[in-house]
Amino acid sequence: MSQAALTCANIEVDFDGFKAVNGVDLTLDRGEVHFLIGPNGAGKTTLVDAITGLARYTGSVVKDTAEKGAVELRGKKVHHIARHGIGRTFQTATVFENLTVAQNLDIAAGSGRSPWALLRRRKHLPDTVVNVMEQIGLTGQAATPAGILAHGQKQWLEIGMLLVGDADVLLLDEPIAGMGHDERETTGRLLHDIATDRAVAVVEHDMDFMRAFASRVTVLHAGAVLATGSVDEVSNHPRVQEVYLGTAHPTAPSNDMEPADAATA
Ligand SMILES: Nc1ncnc2c1ncn2[C@@H]1O[C@H](COP(=O)(O)OP(=O)(O)OP(=O)(O)O)[C@@H](O)[C@H]1O
Ligand SMILES: [Mg+2]
Repeated sequence: MSQAALTCANIEVDFDGFKAVNGVDLTLDRGEVHFLIGPNGAGKTTLVDAITGLARYTGSVVKDTAEKGAVELRGKKVHHIARHGIGRTFQTATVFENLTVAQNLDIAAGSGRSPWALLRRRKHLPDTVVNVMEQIGLTGQAATPAGILAHGQKQWLEIGMLLVGDADVLLLDEPIAGMGHDERETTGRLLHDIATDRAVAVVEHDMDFMRAFASRVTVLHAGAVLATGSVDEVSNHPRVQEVYLGTAHPTAPSNDMEPADAATA
């Protein structure tokens, strides 16, 4: 039985002779929140760029689709890849600041409608928009311009825009950067809720967040996969401890796992 929504095989991204991604295999299953971790420059964002068509690569990315079965995404244009259900967020939220929460979602849901129809305020929002607004906890902010939402709420709106657009593989690049504790908790729960019938990949540096919410973890280092498995498996993996978790301050901005921690995690 395979629940694989996305299967990457032997992905290589070459920037003028420098292999930023060097032979990565990665499987994203429905039902899992799969964390991609690794030091700065490990190739995490470049891998996401490759999957979403923003970076040229060799190898293969196969998406399981309801309509057409397995579809090879390599060589397809960015918007075709999105149409096959691959949704992606960037670290800075890209919502329409002057439009309301409901309008942002309505537009993201409305591929195929004319620009005029999209901008018209509608009395009745489509069910998908109403449901997703509830799921991302922004029903009370339906009429609020996105520009004045709190930081966390913008990220949730952006995730909501992928959901109404029918993405079933979500690739989120550092979704909790800049969030406070409560917003992180809410986001972690949201990711699991979303992953019930989708695959969710999260690029993250925050080890506490990873430990709390990862169903599976893949550790990248120098463009290659160092380990993949449960939080415990990767935390106890000798090479991971050596090159990543075992260093005093592996990567980044927030907090972190001390070596002692890693051994007992
Ligand atoms: N367009 C590019 N041209 C040349 N080198 C690049 C390009 N984009 C990224 N790189 C290099 O590829 C490597 C991987 O970068 P990438 O941004 O994927 O790392 P990352 O794991 O996302 O790191 P971070 O945690 O800092 O976001 C780095 O050495 C980076 O400098
Ligand atoms: Mg990155």
